[in-house]
Amino acid sequence: MSKKILVLPGDGIGQEVTASVLQILDFIIKKFSLNFSIDKLDVGGTAYEKFGSPIPETVLTAAKKADAVLFGAVGAPQWDGLSWEDRPENALLTLRKELNLFANLRPAFLFNELSNASPLKEKIIEGLDILIVRELTGGIYFGEPRGVVDDQSPNYAFNTMIYNEDEIRRIAKIAFESAQKRKGRLCSVEKANVLEVSKFWRSIVTEMSEEYPDVELSHQLADNAAMQLVLNPNQFDVIVASNLFGDILSDIAATLTGSIGMLPSASLDSSFKGMYEPCHGSAPDIANQDLANPLAMIGSLSMALRYSLEEETVANKIDKAIKKFIQKGFRTKDIATDVNYLKTSEVAEKIIEILENE
Ligand code: IPM
Ligand code: MG
Repeated sequence: MSKKILVLPGDGIGQEVTASVLQILDFIIKKFSLNFSIDKLDVGGTAYEKFGSPIPETVLTAAKKADAVLFGAVGAPQWDGLSWEDRPENALLTLRKELNLFANLRPAFLFNELSNASPLKEKIIEGLDILIVRELTGGIYFGEPRGVVDDQSPNYAFNTMIYNEDEIRRIAKIAFESAQKRKGRLCSVEKANVLEVSKFWRSIVTEMSEEYPDVELSHQLADNAAMQLVLNPNQFDVIVASNLFGDILSDIAATLTGSIGMLPSASLDSSFKGMYEPCHGSAPDIANQDLANPLAMIGSLSMALRYSLEEETVANKIDKAIKKFIQKGFRTKDIATDVNYLKTSEVAEKIIEILENE
C-alpha cells in the first residue's frame, strides 16, 4: 500500500527548504522504488492570504490522512498583528493538537567538522549528541483556563500549566525508551522547587524509573539545565521536558551545534505517524534569497522515513549523505567560514549526487 506524505511548505524559507526536500523525495522514490504518494498544500500566512485561514480545513483533513507530514516553517512580522486564530503559528499548534503529536524528538548533534561554528569552545562541544524529548500537546501551551481580562483595573492575562499523570507517563515512556537505545542516561527537567505541576511531574518520572533499571535517571531544575547545557553539554544524553521548558532548552541545544539550520525534528503520535519539521523558523530576513540551509529539512525527511514510513535503510543513506556533504567541505551561508557557499537550490543537487554515487 502506498504511504501518504503531505508537504506543507508554509512561509518564508519554509518554501525554499521544502523545495529541496521535494527534489530529494523525487529522486529516492525512483532510485529505491518507493511507493509514496505526495500532496502539497498551503499553510500559515501563505494560506491566510489565499483562503483567510492559516490552517484551512482541507489541510487538517489531509494531515489526518497522511502517514507523514513534512512541515517547512510558518510566520513573518507582517502577520504579527493578527488575532491568535489567524496567526500562522496557530496552524502549527492546531496540527500538533489535532493530530495528537505529543512526542517531540529534537536531536542536537555536532558534526565535528562544524565545531568552529559553535559559540562554545571546541573542547566543551566536541562529540555533542543530545536528544531532547519535548511534550508537545499539553502544559501551558494548551492549558485551560486561559485568557485576557480587559474590563477590570488592573486588567490581566493568564495561562494554566497543567499535566495529568497519563500525559506525563506517555512522554516519559518515550524518553526512557530513547535513553535505552542511546547511552542510557535520562535527565528530567522541571521547576519542582516552585511549581506543583513540576513536583508532580518529578514524582511520576521517579516512580516510572523503577521499570527502567538500565536507565540512569537524574533531575534538573530548568534554569540550572539551561546553564548546564552551555557549561557542560556532554553530561546529557536524553532530556525530557514539558512543552514550555522543552521549547526553551531545544533552542539552546540547537545553537550549540553551530547552526539551528542543521537540526531536524519529529513530532509523533502513539502510532508513530508524525509531522517532521526543521527546528529553525521561517527566517523572513533571508527568505527568497536562496540562502537558507535546507539540511534540517532534509534531516527531517530522514526522520520521517525512519519513524513513519518504514524506510530505515533509506533514512540511513540520507543521514550518511548529509555527513558526507559536510565532510566534503560543502557549506551553506550559515555554516560557511568564507564566501564559498552553496545556494539553497544547489544543496539538494549535491545530496542527490552523493546518493547516486553511493
Ligand atoms: C517551536 C516553536 C513554536 C513553539 C512556535 C513557533 C509556536 O518555537 O516549535 O519550538 O513554541 O512550539
Ligand atoms: Mg521553539
